[in-house]
Amino acid sequence: MQTLISETAIRQRGIELAHQIGSDYRDQPLTIVGVLTGSLVFLADLTRQLPIPHRIGVLQASSYRGATTVAGSLRVNLELVPDLQGRHVLLLDDILDTGQTLSSLVDEVKQLGPLSVRTVVLLRKLGRQSVAFEPDYCGFEIPDVFVVGYGLDYDDEFRHLPYLAGLDPEDIEQHRRRVK
Ligand code: IMP
Ligand code: MG
Repeated sequence: MQTLISETAIRQRGIELAHQIGSDYRDQPLTIVGVLTGSLVFLADLTRQLPIPHRIGVLQASSYRGATTVAGSLRVNLELVPDLQGRHVLLLDDILDTGQTLSSLVDEVKQLGPLSVRTVVLLRKLGRQSVAFEPDYCGFEIPDVFVVGYGLDYDDEFRHLPYLAGLDPEDIEQHRRRVK
């Protein structure tokens, strides 16, 4: 597997994002809502770098099914989201690919009545977006490769890697043979 973004580069960029977000939301009631499961590691790191008080929540959304890199239909579970009345929401996800997940989630979260909804993504894949959608904060723009690590998975594997790696078709084939 090829390292795409190192642990050091992720940490450095995370600190910059946290400072930016911290100054934008200073003295505002902020709730960060992470999209399970891919955003867990990013959420845990960002929240500890954020220099302002804030709350944390999660929701569940999944579009990939098992051993495929093609998105299926989106399933959303809002049951874990805390009360957002009187709160500014920053929806946090691992990666913006086609844009379908985040644009749908923004609409769903707005229904819950927060003061505002903005978005932060660690990664944005270039040349893949099928929905017009601009994230408010973005860590890195990356080429159109399937990436794993730092929370992102292939078939629920590789989330634990502390860096981001590109998965090429050979890696996928190797993984398939291993889990058979
Ligand atoms: P979108 O709806 O196409 O923007 O897809 C976003 C979701 O797909 C992300 O939250 C990820 O869970 C997943 N995803 C998209 N690209 C990748 C990738 O390269 N590696 C791992 N997960 C991905
Ligand atoms: Mg996801």
